[in-house]
Amino acid sequence: MKWLNRVNNNFDASKKSTFSHDLQNHPLMQFDELKKLALRHPTVKFHSANIPRTQSLETVVKEAPSNMNLADALNNIETSGTFVFIQNIQNDPIYGKFVNEILDEIENDVHKNQSNMRKRQAWVFITSPGGTTPYHRDQESAHYFHIKGKKTFWLWDAKDRSVVSQKENEFFHGVYGLSKTRYDETYMSKASEYAINPGDGIFFPYTAPHMVENGKEEFSISFSVTHMTDEDFAIRRVNKINQLLRKFGLSPKDQGESGLIDNLKLAFHWVLRTTLSPFGNNWKNA
Ligand SMILES: [Fe+2]
Repeated sequence: MKWLNRVNNNFDASKKSTFSHDLQNHPLMQFDELKKLALRHPTVKFHSANIPRTQSLETVVKEAPSNMNLADALNNIETSGTFVFIQNIQNDPIYGKFVNEILDEIENDVHKNQSNMRKRQAWVFITSPGGTTPYHRDQESAHYFHIKGKKTFWLWDAKDRSVVSQKENEFFHGVYGLSKTRYDETYMSKASEYAINPGDGIFFPYTAPHMVENGKEEFSISFSVTHMTDEDFAIRRVNKINQLLRKFGLSPKDQGESGLIDNLKLAFHWVLRTTLSPFGNNWKNA
């Protein structure tokens, strides 16, 4: 079974691309099934979907809570003004096999350019009409399958330093935090904009900023599968070392500017990771 059809056959996991799919017709992607999943699954977040583009995704559950419980929010999804985020559905006994079949197909493509695909995860997003997913970045590369409704999706390049500054990038990777990742209207002219319908798919590379707005006519469902590779970990680790160097008052070269200096930072990262991780600090698995 083939799960996705790439628009361009020269898939490169470091570059954005689009694909089509048929998951909107899959039994496990129907709203009633996803509702059952949401109500049995241990990791589900939900909050108001009526939030500004500038809202920090890190604090949205606290700052814009839903005014109803999860079952009521889902049963009234057309009017409840809710965003429901079902996390790590690869761990569900019913969804796990399905998710891994899709990830196996993706792994074949990813390994054309990158190595050691891991951190295989899957997520579902259910959004009331008119809802917003504010500007943010994720700690992985994503294949985003749109299932139901209409959305406008904006995507940026994580290497565009007029959008993602070096300091924001280092903070994001260094502490895995989004508090410095905020939307600014000047970013809009630099975005790739996609009007997406069921059957459309977008691949966005590691940590590429994105923002989504739901159509006002109906609620929507999207599904994404994500991963990291050796190349992604190298980007994270160099930025994490840069963040550390800044704490000592240094101004490190940006990741990607010098292969030699990046390799020295990766060696330094390895020393810190292997010596400090037994103490349970945040260098473990970083
Ligand atoms: Fe995201």
